[in-house]
Formats: sequence, C-alpha cells, structure tokens
Amino acid sequence: LPIAVLVSGGGSNLQSIIDRVEQGALDVDIRLVVSNKGDAYGLERAKKHNIPHKVLLHTDYATREAFDADMVKAINDAGVDSSGAVVLAGFMRIITPVFLSAFENRVINIHPALLPSFPGAHGQPDAADYGVKISGCTVHFVDEKTDHGPIIIQAAVPALAGETGDELGPRILKLEHRVFPQALQWLAEDRLELDGRFVRLKPAGK
Ligand code: GRF
Repeated sequence: LPIAVLVSGGGSNLQSIIDRVEQGALDVDIRLVVSNKGDAYGLERAKKHNIPHKVLLHTDYATREAFDADMVKAINDAGVDSSGAVVLAGFMRIITPVFLSAFENRVINIHPALLPSFPGAHGQPDAADYGVKISGCTVHFVDEKTDHGPIIIQAAVPALAGETGDELGPRILKLEHRVFPQALQWLAEDRLELDGRFVRLKPAGK
C-alpha cells in the first residue's frame, strides 16, 4: 500500500511504522513524509531511512484550503492517490474537505486519548487532570470533524491518581507505537470495512 505520512514533531509514530516495515511486518511503502514544520525531527527520521520528505509551511498560505491543495499535489506527485493512504502521525493541523475529498476514507489519525473523551491537542494532560482511571489511544478514520471519524482500534492504560500528562503521556505513546502499525496493516490487507460509524475487521485472507 503506498502511503504518505504527515508529521509536525518528533515522529516517533513515523518511526514505529518505519521499523515495522523494515521488519517485514507491515506492507506499506512510505512514498513521502510531509511536515508543516521545518524543524520537525520526523524529517530527520525520514532522511535516515532514505524516505522522500518535504516541508510545506502552513504559514506560507492564506487559507487552510490552499495549504491542503498543495499537500494533495505533493502527495499525488509522490505516487499516492485515493487507492493509497495518508497517515496523520502527530500532524497538528486541521485538514479540510479539500484534502479529505482527494483521499476519501483513506486518511487515518492517531489520538492520545480514548475518544470521544479528550479530543484536541492536549489529550494526555486533559485526561490526567480530569482524574480518569483509564486512558489510552485511538486510531480512527479522519472525517471533517476533528478527532471524530470511525474508530479502527483503541488501547487502554491505567491512569494513576495525581499523575500529570507528562507522566501518563509516555505510557500512552508506547501503546500508540503498537496499535498504529497494526491499524495500518489491516488497511493494507483491505480488512477494514466501513459501515457508517462502524469499522468491521474482516477475517484475514478473505
Ligand atoms: C502522539 O501522541 C500522537 O498521538 C499525537 O501527537 C503525538 C505525536 O508524537 N497526535 P510523534 O511525533 O509521533 O512522536
């Protein structure tokens, strides 16, 4: 499956995908890594593994739509279209219908909380500060609402009384590195069947 990975930061989720591919356990071909930040460490990771990478600064664009149109073009030019997939791996920009219509039901995101609880940019501290006993991560298809689309997989960790987002976050991130490549492999195997809000996992090899 040809994919593009969008990052804004450290790219540890990108790394988990790269590692699985190199282990032969994930059937995707990372055609392009795009960052909306020039100094994202995710770009270094791409470089190290000889993966094409590109910086597109959202600040260079007047509108989200214009930015998204250029991202679509870059991704298409790299050989990823609506039969491939786009992976949001810590990409901290809201994407618009301009982007989604180019990759219908082919964009997946990871969120560091158990949706629909604690959407937004601060999932880990929001959950920790609220005093939940369980948090985790969610991989979902992206739709036009932030952190909202049909859920592919979730995984949970205990949250401890009084801990901060900085303490809870790394445990969630460890889970992210397991479930994101898993979700992507299901997509690569064409095992995810969308039915409204529901995602059914088809049996392997059918
Ligand atoms: C992860 O916690 C992800 O869930 C969130 O942003 C963080 C990105 O981490 N959307 P990394 O850049 O993959 O290390």
